Amino acid sequence: MGTRNAHQQRTKNHGPVRFGVIGAGGMGRAHAQGLAKVARAKLTAICDADPNSAGKVGRDFNIAFFTDHRLLIRSGLCDVVIIATPHPLHTPIAIDCMNAGLHVISEKPLAECISKAERMVKTAKKNRVAFAVVFQSRFNPISAKAIELVRSGRIGKIYRTMMLSPDYRTQAYYDAGSWRATWKGEGGGVMLNQAPHAMDMFIQLCGMPCEVFGRTETRMHKIEVEDLAEAMLKYPDGGSGYLYCSTCEPCHGHLIEVFGDLGKLVLKDSGLTIFNYWPGIRDHMHKAKVMWGEMDIREEQIQTTETNTGHVSITAGEMEIVEEKIEVPRQETGHFSVSENIVAHLLDGAPLVTSGESGLASLELANAVTLSAYERRWIKLPINRKRYDSLLDKFCRESRFVKKTVKTRRMTDPRIAK
Ligand SMILES: NC(=O)c1ccc[n+]([C@@H]2O[C@H](COP(=O)([O-])OP(=O)(O)OC[C@H]3O[C@@H](n4cnc5c(N)ncnc54)[C@H](O)[C@@H]3O)[C@@H](O)[C@H]2O)c1
Repeated sequence: MGTRNAHQQRTKNHGPVRFGVIGAGGMGRAHAQGLAKVARAKLTAICDADPNSAGKVGRDFNIAFFTDHRLLIRSGLCDVVIIATPHPLHTPIAIDCMNAGLHVISEKPLAECISKAERMVKTAKKNRVAFAVVFQSRFNPISAKAIELVRSGRIGKIYRTMMLSPDYRTQAYYDAGSWRATWKGEGGGVMLNQAPHAMDMFIQLCGMPCEVFGRTETRMHKIEVEDLAEAMLKYPDGGSGYLYCSTCEPCHGHLIEVFGDLGKLVLKDSGLTIFNYWPGIRDHMHKAKVMWGEMDIREEQIQTTETNTGHVSITAGEMEIVEEKIEVPRQETGHFSVSENIVAHLLDGAPLVTSGESGLASLELANAVTLSAYERRWIKLPINRKRYDSLLDKFCRESRFVKKTVKTRRMTDPRIAK
């Protein structure tokens, strides 16, 4: 029996799907607000270990509130829970919820290490509950189009990839929570908190590398974990790549570049450009007779529009070339899209766009870079789970970092709140 049938049997109806949010901080509040946009969904409960936060959100939304997730589970008020606590708590809370038959949406990253995240996926399967991760970027129509184009073979065999993800944070941001940017509280730095979206999109577009050589650094912030990470990558079919992420760089410029035999795709912030050349590089390189010959390169900026996708006809001499014009329908998406998708999954059988299982790859890549940076050598993927767990355990055990200036603030990122 699939998760949809299991759900329908339990709820004996077709909606609304009742949601609880666990963790009533910046992101938990944003999820609670976002649910107002989701048809056939109803926010019914909130939970936070801090009684003031739980009570405040509970009163603001006029819903039941709890200070222990086990009480929320026992209340019977929820079909789905969204977990928005610090990452190391995602696993134990998700497992309790799944074992009680609740469907789970976990914030990213699924956990701080791949072994714990795999346990979540296994427990969801065992209990036949739906499990999703908050990778809202996958719903962005431009990003979804980029994935579709690469997977359809539009740029051919991939030779080179690159991801640059600058995502600036102040020291005040890090000082706003005792858990932030510590080994025990987060299990890592920029790769675990700010870059997972970019790393996920990078993997969606370019596939999973098979080997990494990483380097991490705490360059500018007074924190214990990395605020900069970079890595060279090797792919199973011989391609190579590079990734870089940092919270030290203030300018926008999230960039993913995928270069293949038939074209190059550039996803920059939310703009998409595709370059197509004909014939493929290998053909042209070896068959062209001219010394300085360029290829026939066509560049297309892909826009979102109100209209449907379509085709344009171009007449070139005697020949009519029907060329695809890539347009992407404009659509509001965001964190709420993950809740919308799980509702459609449970009630209509729609596939989960951000299944928990599909959230494992970016976490494994982050763990691999950390392991490689520590061992100063190329690391093969999949990584050795036990080796990574003991490294993280060592970082936590040996941690002597004392946060002197914590001023707890649970604030939603204004870029999400608007
Ligand atoms: N998808 C996104 O774009 C996005 C954006 C921001 C944060 N996040 C993720 O959301 C999670 C939370 O981040 P945040 O910025 O909201 O942090 P936050 O510190 O603002 O909120 C975390 C909340 O969890 C509560 N909490 C701690 N232990 C708990 C427990 N055992 N039970 C219930 N509540 C508990 C804290 O009291 C706090 O209110 C992180 O995993 C982060 O990576 C995702």
